[in-house]
Amino acid sequence: MLQHLIYGALTCVAIMAPLAAAADTTVQPAPNGIELPQGYKDWRVIAPSYRTDKKHVRVIVGNDIAVNAARAGKTNPWPDGAVLGKLSWKEKVDEHWAPALVPGDFVQAEFMLKDEKKYASTGGWGYARWLGMDQKPYGKDANFAQECVACHTAVKSNDWMFTHPAKLP
Ligand code: HEC
Repeated sequence: MLQHLIYGALTCVAIMAPLAAAADTTVQPAPNGIELPQGYKDWRVIAPSYRTDKKHVRVIVGNDIAVNAARAGKTNPWPDGAVLGKLSWKEKVDEHWAPALVPGDFVQAEFMLKDEKKYASTGGWGYARWLGMDQKPYGKDANFAQECVACHTAVKSNDWMFTHPAKLP
């Protein structure tokens, strides 16, 4: 009897786990079909950055393939399967220490996905951006990525990547 109960509970977990993993489909894909990378909120940091013109604080994060490549210094080119994310917040003055700027309202999450073949038309990287807390996909149609490519062309010789992994001891 107990065995049946345990078996039943395990089966239940086994069936529900994939459902739970796939459950976050409330976020619409980008107009070029790229889906919001699952689990990006748990990715490790590759570098922070700050935009003086937009007054945004950012972190550039990566999936395991990207972070491992960064730690190994193998980032030109980045390996296929690497995904980098850039998470941006409006700057906010720390309420207890005015000289400190800290993250305020969330602005957007942007991603670059490396796949030389799949994204050959945009330099081997797929681009996607989701705006605000409700994660609204950015761009009217698939051509929005041309805007990303245009700006990132400035760093074409660095595999289209502005970010250099921040140095660690
Ligand atoms: C006006 C220029 C410009 C445009 C347009 C632009 N980017 Fe960037 N992007 C940058 C700069 C500069 C950085 C370096 C870090 C920063 O801005 O904080 C960057 C960084 C990134 C990063 C982190 C990896 C890296 O290259 O450093 C991602 C991911 C990214 N951008 C995605 C996008 C996507 C997706 C789009 C289009 C929807 C886009 N970018 C459009 C200028 C641009």
